[in-house]
Amino acid sequence: MKYSWATTVVASSSLLATAVSAASADDWTKRSVYQVVTDRFALGNGSSPSCDTSQKKYCGGNWQGIINHLDYIQDMGFDAIWISPVVENVQGTTTEGEAYHGYWPQNINSLNTNFGSADDLKSLSSALHDKGMHLMVDVVVNHVVANPTNTSSVWPETFDYSLLQPFGAANSFHTQCFISDYNNQTDVEQCWLGDSGLPLLDLDTENSTVVDTMYSWIKNLVSDYDIDGLRVDTAKHIRQDFWPDFASNAGVYTVAEILIGNVTYAAPYTKGLDSVLDYPTYYAVYNAFTNGTSGNMSTIAEMVNQAQDQYNHGTFYVGSFVENQDNPRIQSTVSDQAIVKNMMTWPFINDGIPILYYGQEQGYQGGNDPANREALWLSGFNTENKPLVTHVKTLNAARKQAISANSSFLTTKASFISQSSSTSTLAISKPPFLTLLTNVGSGSSSSASWSIPSSAGLYSGKETLVDVLTCDTVTTEDDGSLSVSASGGLPKVLMPAEALSKSGSLCGSQASGAMGLRGLNVGMMGAAVGAILAGMMLV
Ligand SMILES: *[C@@H]1O[C@H](CO)[C@@H](O)[C@H](O)[C@H]1NC(C)=O
Ligand SMILES: *[C@@H]1O[C@H](CO)[C@@H](O)[C@H](O)[C@H]1NC(C)=O
Ligand SMILES: *[C@@H]1O[C@H](CO)[C@@H](O)[C@H](O)[C@H]1NC(C)=O
Ligand SMILES: *[C@@H]1O[C@H](CO)[C@@H](O)[C@H](O)[C@H]1NC(C)=O
Ligand SMILES: *[C@@H]1O[C@H](CO)[C@@H](O)[C@H](O)[C@H]1NC(C)=O
Ligand SMILES: *[C@@H]1O[C@H](CO)[C@@H](O)[C@H](O)[C@H]1NC(C)=O
Ligand SMILES: *[C@@H]1O[C@H](CO)[C@@H](O)[C@H](O)[C@H]1NC(C)=O
Ligand SMILES: *[C@@H]1O[C@H](CO)[C@@H](O)[C@H](O)[C@H]1NC(C)=O
Repeated sequence: MKYSWATTVVASSSLLATAVSAASADDWTKRSVYQVVTDRFALGNGSSPSCDTSQKKYCGGNWQGIINHLDYIQDMGFDAIWISPVVENVQGTTTEGEAYHGYWPQNINSLNTNFGSADDLKSLSSALHDKGMHLMVDVVVNHVVANPTNTSSVWPETFDYSLLQPFGAANSFHTQCFISDYNNQTDVEQCWLGDSGLPLLDLDTENSTVVDTMYSWIKNLVSDYDIDGLRVDTAKHIRQDFWPDFASNAGVYTVAEILIGNVTYAAPYTKGLDSVLDYPTYYAVYNAFTNGTSGNMSTIAEMVNQAQDQYNHGTFYVGSFVENQDNPRIQSTVSDQAIVKNMMTWPFINDGIPILYYGQEQGYQGGNDPANREALWLSGFNTENKPLVTHVKTLNAARKQAISANSSFLTTKASFISQSSSTSTLAISKPPFLTLLTNVGSGSSSSASWSIPSSAGLYSGKETLVDVLTCDTVTTEDDGSLSVSASGGLPKVLMPAEALSKSGSLCGSQASGAMGLRGLNVGMMGAAVGAILAGMMLV
């Protein structure tokens, strides 16, 4: 691969010209997202109380706490956060504990005062924007929640509807029934989540008054708090044709939770909303890496190919993750740090928008909900001697460098280079990345290697590639082919030395890219100056 400076300069200037719509999906593709459970990230007054996740109670985290620790997030290279739902939730306790996670809205026109005031939320939004970061807010549209008021067996259950604002009456809801058949989409959309102890009252999103209420609510929420993106909870529980107008009222990037490992099922939602959280690939990644070497890495490629084919905009707008608030942390299943590092690498090197769930960088190990919602303040926000903090920092830096080194990075599909001899390795090409993953782990008897044939057409002969996770280099053969062995089961993220900048923090001493391209992309140099420089460099 010969590095084409002139092409990069031209593309950079057109990128500058189009980068006007701040909170569009295209803008989000350049970013990476740090997901926080607001109640569990930080207290605004800096105190550090104990937090027993099994109690399912508020532990005290709030918006001011996030504001106070934005440097912690930004220093790892993230330029967006996703926070818990912000509206007022069911008060006190329920059969499932307190609403500390925010997913049980009660009054959608008020904020959850456990997290702060309207001014606090506005301050969080502006503190983020001052740092060039984006705010993604989680929103629940499918249901609202009140404790049932019937004291004996009554069906349907009874509620104090006056609590459920602005709805206030039974005729705003579907008739009570619990979802019993997930293969019947009407049942999924019109029956209720939860159980008789804690029923989630299912809004009648076939009723135009309810629909209009939700559309104007989202429009106002986004504008009142200057929100840049929305994570849309339980989206598959509302009819698909509800979503396009919801998205246009929101006017910002929307990513839907479609909790299913089936690409064909998820695909239609990428038309009404910008995209989906990439659950199908998440499940493939989780199973491939947590079953020892009997995990089949090729299933990841198969799933990604399906998603690239079937989703609107391919997988460029998906949210790509390996942990979240609803799934067990990877270290609850695997402790081998080589496997952990392979899994953590995935979201940063594929087509989607990387999302990291708070605490992963600190090595948190909580299993299923509620164990996976640990208090981050108990880590002391310590970043010294934290190998996974370093790993995340490097992955964010690598992705930023890839974006600035190749203007096609964000719009070219990742592809897989067949590793015919093994189901324990995966080679993913997304120039300038060539990422090599393996599930063999760090055991002394395990080994893995990858082969990239010259027919893949990726490299020229005797080209120097740098593994940006270690700064070790490898050199291609005369014909451009490459053979690499894993060391200790660790992943490799290879970039051409020419795609790195000597002045950059990412393996600068291995770089052969003379000036670094970042200056061009951040607009410090006009295209004309760039073209002159490019001419000089070609001499
Ligand atoms: C940039 O990416 C495109 C698409 O993957 C690839 O064809 C091209 O070779 C890359 N260019 C450089 C200079 O890396
Ligand atoms: C800090 O805030 C928490 C939650 O609001 C409160 O319970 C605690 O008393 C406060 N601590 C101090 C030292 O102010
Ligand atoms: C209300 O009635 C339902 C149906 O009989 C029952 O399952 C539920 O436990 C009751 N709820 C309360 C709070 O008593
Ligand atoms: C639709 O919902 C509104 C309140 O949100 C209610 O007043 C109206 O009766 C409902 N319509 C039907 C047909 O249920
Ligand atoms: C699907 O679910 C709806 C709502 O529960 C129900 O009315 C309908 O009978 C179900 N259809 C089938 C084929 O079971
Ligand atoms: C996946 O979803 C599609 C569309 O809903 C459905 O037709 C198909 O049967 C599902 N596949 C599996 C394996 O469940
Ligand atoms: C192993 O993979 C299978 C699917 O192939 C999955 O059902 C199982 O949960 C995986 N085991 C672990 C520990 O994740
Ligand atoms: C691994 O997965 C791929 C893609 O699903 C499949 O074609 C292949 O047969 C699987 N190999 C094994 C050994 O299970």
